[in-house]
Amino acid sequence: MTPATQPDQLLNALNWRYATKAFDTMALPVPLWEALQESLRLAPSSYGLQPWKFFVITDPAVRAKLRPVSWNQSQITDASHLVVIARRTEITEDDVNAFFNQMVSERQANATVLEPYRQMMIGGVVKGKDAAGQREWAARQCDIAWVSLLTSAAVLGVDTCAIEGLDAASI
Ligand SMILES: Cc1cc2nc3c(=O)[nH]c(=O)nc-3n(C[C@H](O)[C@H](O)[C@H](O)COP(=O)(O)O)c2cc1C
Repeated sequence: MTPATQPDQLLNALNWRYATKAFDTMALPVPLWEALQESLRLAPSSYGLQPWKFFVITDPAVRAKLRPVSWNQSQITDASHLVVIARRTEITEDDVNAFFNQMVSERQANATVLEPYRQMMIGGVVKGKDAAGQREWAARQCDIAWVSLLTSAAVLGVDTCAIEGLDAASI
């Protein structure tokens, strides 16, 4: 097979990536940002349920408010783009059904044939987990999304920093 990217190019990009501590004020070119947004949207998740919301915080006033509750880290105000990844706190049967109906409609699939898949999702995520289990599951899916974003950014030569150093309860 012919790889879309050469192995050495990929490894160069991954070796180049580092947790950037200080950003300049240069705005990311729009095509780069649009591709990175897509990397979030295209991130895989268990069953495809995507139990997340991505917030792109553009208002400088909001970013200034977030900084003190993020260990005063300068990346919060200075990076070209600030993405907050929020997990769903609850996954209900209605959520599964909405996803299932959309999937059936977009794929023009047969709902009866796919019914076992719907049952599997309900058994696995809705009925098979308690509230804490659902939140933990959703957080793990979010981890996949941000890793996808950071890896994609590295491939494009865009600096990033994951930020867990924040007081989520204050936000
Ligand atoms: C989940 C997670 C949370 C992180 N939170 C912060 C953070 O709040 N501030 C920061 O400067 N770096 C943060 N980092 C960056 C790590 O400290 C960094 O990835 C690690 O030291 C390895 O360095 P490298 O990414 O430059 O290879 C975080 C990384 C991860 C994976």
